[in-house]
Amino acid sequence: MLKEHAFLKREMKISVEGELAFIPIKEAPPRNLLNNAGLGYVNVVEKIVEAGKTIQNFTSALEKVIPSKLKPLIPRSLDIIGHVAIVELPPELEPYAEALGKTVMETHRNVKTVLAKTSQVDSPFRLRKFKLISGIDQTETVHREFGCRFVVDVRKVYFSPRLSFEHDRVSAQIGEGETVVDMFAGVGPFSILTAKRRKKVKVYAIDANPEAYSYLLRNIAINKVDSKVTALLGDIQRLLEKNLRGVKADRVIMNLPSEAFRFLPQALTLLKAEGIVHYYCFAKEPNPLEKAEEEVKKTVAFSGWKADVLYARRVKPSAPRTWMVALDLRFTL
Ligand SMILES: C[S@@+](CC[C@H](N)C(=O)[O-])C[C@H]1O[C@@H](n2cnc3c(N)ncnc32)[C@H](O)[C@@H]1O
Repeated sequence: MLKEHAFLKREMKISVEGELAFIPIKEAPPRNLLNNAGLGYVNVVEKIVEAGKTIQNFTSALEKVIPSKLKPLIPRSLDIIGHVAIVELPPELEPYAEALGKTVMETHRNVKTVLAKTSQVDSPFRLRKFKLISGIDQTETVHREFGCRFVVDVRKVYFSPRLSFEHDRVSAQIGEGETVVDMFAGVGPFSILTAKRRKKVKVYAIDANPEAYSYLLRNIAINKVDSKVTALLGDIQRLLEKNLRGVKADRVIMNLPSEAFRFLPQALTLLKAEGIVHYYCFAKEPNPLEKAEEEVKKTVAFSGWKADVLYARRVKPSAPRTWMVALDLRFTL
């Protein structure tokens, strides 16, 4: 269950001491998830891992190559999308890029391409630049998530395996017969997983990046959800006045955290008199969840809509002391 929901810290091993099993995790899963999995009582503890015992291959192999004063800079995690691995490469580790890339390939047998990030994520299409540090220069790949296949080119479209828990969590809530608008669909993970899981659902998947739209169409076809997902290319503002005119949704998914507040009024025009918005934004420490909630309430203060927060979660860190936050919001007119 932890593996499926992307909580498992794969670069560390599970260890057993007497009757206790220590399972390395990235963060504590929500209690309701543990309960749903039939795990009555689970204690999340912090355990100091003995050096060399549980930290697996990738980091420990690198520690042999990289001078000891640079060890704190060794990446502790990497993103794997299909056969492509993506790592952070701090400038101090540049001279060791090749060794790092080779080590990633040696310790992850499915990886054929290792890329290092060379820029921040850029608006509006949320793309970054990468350089190849090992393997073949083939950045189009097929990524598998919860039984669906997604063709993506990491240089041309946004995709993050760190959102897999959210793809699953949100699509699991969507009921039979609902109408859903996925305003910033990318290559389609929220939309396609939703369609795969329901017999009858109407999903509108929108993206302004022509490359993302083209992969979205391919992914709809290979996952055989053509009858349930309508893909639309263009800026959401423009589509609201054209293709989406008259659409009233039970839910709107807003996965564009950098501009969430700006687009919230548009999302509300798509919603039925009572509906849910799955909302993502960035918020700073301390209390990022409270800050995100306050910002939403301020944004809709004079709109006539009442907002209730049904669920809030820190999804992933996005910058120092800044989090990507998920809020499930029920709006009522
Ligand atoms: C964070 S990515 C979405 C990722 C996707 N939901 C997923 O889970 O993989 C945001 C997407 O919004 C698209 N986008 C940005 N501005 C847009 C706009 N004004 N209208 C429609 N799509 C937009 C970008 O091209 C990008 O693919």
